[in-house]
Amino acid sequence: MRILTAPEAEVPGELKLQVAALQDQAWPGPPVPSTALVHDPALRPVSMLLLDGDRVVAALDVLSKELDHAGRTFAASGLSAVVTDRARRGRGYGRRLVAAARAAVVQGGADLGLFTCDRGLRGFYEGAGWELLPGAVLVGGTAEEPFPSDQDGFDKVTMAGFFTDRAARHRPDFEGRRIALHPGDIDRLW
Ligand SMILES: CC(C)(COP(=O)(O)OP(=O)(O)OC[C@H]1O[C@@H](n2cnc3c(N)ncnc32)[C@H](O)[C@@H]1OP(=O)(O)O)[C@@H](O)C(=O)NCCC(=O)NCCS
Repeated sequence: MRILTAPEAEVPGELKLQVAALQDQAWPGPPVPSTALVHDPALRPVSMLLLDGDRVVAALDVLSKELDHAGRTFAASGLSAVVTDRARRGRGYGRRLVAAARAAVVQGGADLGLFTCDRGLRGFYEGAGWELLPGAVLVGGTAEEPFPSDQDGFDKVTMAGFFTDRAARHRPDFEGRRIALHPGDIDRLW
């Protein structure tokens, strides 16, 4: 098995179709999975695919932006659309890819990683090196149309990684806070 890492726009069409099919298993959407781009190009989407030969076993996307928070600017990245082929779940593939994504985010120079997940998946992400950011709420969407992770009907936790010394020093500014991530109106909560 190997991991293919490429900007979303450069993933070969055949693989992109397989990823879309996996995403459709998890989040049923348009009738036919397509090769259309999923993410806002402004978030510099990078896809990571765990491949068994030419079959996509698991996939995720890393999104990135400059985050202004508590008077400082941080290079922030987060995980989006994490999925393992339903037929191959429970074999450690998801964890392997999510751990590789954390390493890629660190290597890419991000100050921090930040994303939300359903509360029940906390252990899955912790097993791949991510940490719970207690009490933190990510405010997605835009300033005009916010899309917070603590809205009615959601039961989400915020996962994080503080990778640079500066980010680690300012971690208390993030715990228990509302973080105006505002990734936009395409990836409303990455
Ligand atoms: C979440 C998902 C990606 C996990 O992929 P996977 O390849 O089955 O995960 P792994 O086999 O690497 O599991 C690693 C650990 O996480 C746990 N885990 C996996 N899926 C879990 C789930 N849905 N809920 C709780 N724990 C889970 C496993 O039990 C395992 O723990 P263990 O090592 O103690 O046994 C997969 O279930 C999936 O595609 N779900 C649908 C899409 C989704 O919800 N994505 C997350 C969006 S935030």
